Amino acid sequence: MTHILSCVAWPYANGPRHIGHVAGFGVPSDVFSRYMRMAGHDVLMVSGTDEHGTPILVQAEEDGITAQELADRYNRVIVEDLQALGLSYDLFTRTTTANHYAVTQEMFRTVHKNGYMVERTTMGAVSPSTGRTLPDRYIEGTCPLCGYESARGDQCDNCGNQLDPVDLIDPRSRINGEVPKFVSSQHFFLDLPALVDALTAWLRTRTSWRPNVLNFSLNLLDDVRPRPMTRDIDWGIPVPLPGWEDNGNKRLYVWFDAVVGYLSASVEWARRKAQASGNPLDVDAWRQWWNDPQALSYYFMGKDNITFHSQIWPAELLAYNGQGAAGGDPGSFGTLNLPTEVVSSEFLTMEGRQFSSSRRVVIYVRDMLERYQGDALRYFIAVAGPESQDSDFTWEEFKRRTNDELVAGWGNLVNRTVNLIHKNIGTIPPPGPRTPVDDAVLAATSAGFTEVGDAIGRQRQRAGIAAAMRLVGEVNKYLATTAPWKLAKGDEADQARMRDVLHVAAQAVSDCNRLLAPYLPHAAQAVDKALGFDRAFGNAPQIEEVTDLDKPERHYPIITGDYSDTPQWASEPIPPGQDVPPAKPIFTKLDDSIVAEELARLDTQP
Ligand code: MF3
Ligand code: ZN
Repeated sequence: MTHILSCVAWPYANGPRHIGHVAGFGVPSDVFSRYMRMAGHDVLMVSGTDEHGTPILVQAEEDGITAQELADRYNRVIVEDLQALGLSYDLFTRTTTANHYAVTQEMFRTVHKNGYMVERTTMGAVSPSTGRTLPDRYIEGTCPLCGYESARGDQCDNCGNQLDPVDLIDPRSRINGEVPKFVSSQHFFLDLPALVDALTAWLRTRTSWRPNVLNFSLNLLDDVRPRPMTRDIDWGIPVPLPGWEDNGNKRLYVWFDAVVGYLSASVEWARRKAQASGNPLDVDAWRQWWNDPQALSYYFMGKDNITFHSQIWPAELLAYNGQGAAGGDPGSFGTLNLPTEVVSSEFLTMEGRQFSSSRRVVIYVRDMLERYQGDALRYFIAVAGPESQDSDFTWEEFKRRTNDELVAGWGNLVNRTVNLIHKNIGTIPPPGPRTPVDDAVLAATSAGFTEVGDAIGRQRQRAGIAAAMRLVGEVNKYLATTAPWKLAKGDEADQARMRDVLHVAAQAVSDCNRLLAPYLPHAAQAVDKALGFDRAFGNAPQIEEVTDLDKPERHYPIITGDYSDTPQWASEPIPPGQDVPPAKPIFTKLDDSIVAEELARLDTQP
């Protein structure tokens, strides 16, 4: 039993999330966490909404509400969507909790005290008409490196280089077109050059990462510069130092805010656990995942977040631990574990185009779940998602996979087996003598636990589900070969053989159900019931309305759950004698017309 921390990228609360987002961070992290729980490990899966920074501020201004109002609105939408998709967070919280502020400020103070925050003067842009600071990405101009005319202040989308807004040629505000004024401003920078040796040494030990992530991360080390950790902005966590704390226009940057959420959410989870159990010692429960060097931690995200997780966050942890060139001592959280693995997916496109809410090339998680089964989406992402290269979501392919693989493959196997048992016996028959074909099919499904488990454990989830579905095909073949419906019409010996075959088939279906459970948790519950069980087959995540631990006037929804009685990752003998009710379809067949309907919605929806 190992302590496994599943860290899931924090979605911005500036709008609803689309299926590209959940393909990147959501489904892969949940498949992994569910599998690890079934395999007997102690998993802590944490995340929340990222509610500070310019994306929130700009959207709030557009909508004419405050940043907090906007964050409250979309925090709730995102919580509801992720829960409905079955993402089994132990805690999904938010960055605007008092706990997150406190944990982040403690991190900052210690990193500063250890000597890894360097103060620098930079030139910041101000809007001459409003006097407010203009965030980098809201400045546009010509790239000084490649001449591209619509480069953003922070980055050129044409040549990919990071930019400083002051270097743009012909800078202008993307909000109102005016020419920004540049004024000098003091900021803290994380001293990455003082951490680069420790970072390099750590990264060199990370040999099992997906090659695209590891190579990208190693390349980042070639050009290491101090990175700004504070911003001229009035929405965010105050900089916890004398002279800064009360300055309403300086806040911690997202690079020292959302990523710290993995730690603060773990702390919040433990504090809530202590509150529920009444055992004050539980407040330290998070330490088993963060301080024990044996614990493992996996970070799930889309590829635009790799730098955050393979460089900035590890550097912050090293600085906090006092493990860089400047030395130092850990703060009150103790020596914190660096990531075991940064698991990044590539991008999902939609009908060959990049997702874009503004251009309406999008399907939101909410709309998807209103019209289709969550497990159908989970299946598509697992089997055809952008695990190690970009992949494309098309409605035609979604329909095909749902109908051919879920409905006609797995769903049909369950239905046939259950109906044969229901009609001919009524209960799960006892095991009987076995022939070589029986042994072969059960040997295959049993071996599936090693093959599928290894694949998920090594972040090869596509290979894992392909292997599980191949076994579904083998069990379907077993039914075709043994033809129990023919045996049902035969003499007494045939009838006896039919019962033995249906026992084997029920066992094989039960095995396949476990192998698919991390991917298809809602279907797994239905299949378990179809086999005559009357139990919760792994608990579902819940939404709970909670009170902020340090600000009793504040309330918010969290996703949490008790996943302790999860089924085991092993073949479990199916008990004979339990009633098998008539089969109900597990998956809904999609009509051909959905393709045209959905395509018509693209580009036109409001
Ligand atoms: N909200 C940011 C984004 O979506 C950061 C997410 S990852 C985190 O890009 F670690 F920073 F939370
Ligand atoms: Zn450029």
